[in-house]
Amino acid sequence: MTQLHDHVNKIVATQGVLFTKLHQHHWYVKGDKFFTLHEKFEELYDEVNEQFDEFAERLLTIGGQPYSTLKEFIDNSSISEAPYTKEVSSEEMVKTVLADFETVVTDLGKGIELAGEAGDDVTEDMCIGYKTSLEKHMWMFRYYLG
Ligand SMILES: [Fe+2]
Repeated sequence: MTQLHDHVNKIVATQGVLFTKLHQHHWYVKGDKFFTLHEKFEELYDEVNEQFDEFAERLLTIGGQPYSTLKEFIDNSSISEAPYTKEVSSEEMVKTVLADFETVVTDLGKGIELAGEAGDDVTEDMCIGYKTSLEKHMWMFRYYLG
């Protein structure tokens, strides 16, 4: 396993956790922004799920072994989760998503660097594509927050 394999696997693990976290927001969001955010969080977990699968299959393609259990995802994720035990405002949820996306964007930036060094232009392109999309979502959320 190379550093690139390990790093792509970290991206896989993180998407596994992010997918679940976005469901938590989707299920528990309350208030006057409910309809907007409930739908937006669903759109985002669908996108994360797609990338989760794409990165895992890319890792297999380049000879790696993606994590495939919830425990491995949690243990190797760049982001952490917490049970929903007290009410969280919709604004706090958006701020959490922004922070998590920032973490993933940082990981993708490192992925671009490692894939570039390894001459793996396909993985590099995947990281660039996902990073582009997350940065756009982050811009929209920042504008949403005003
Ligand atoms: Fe739903």
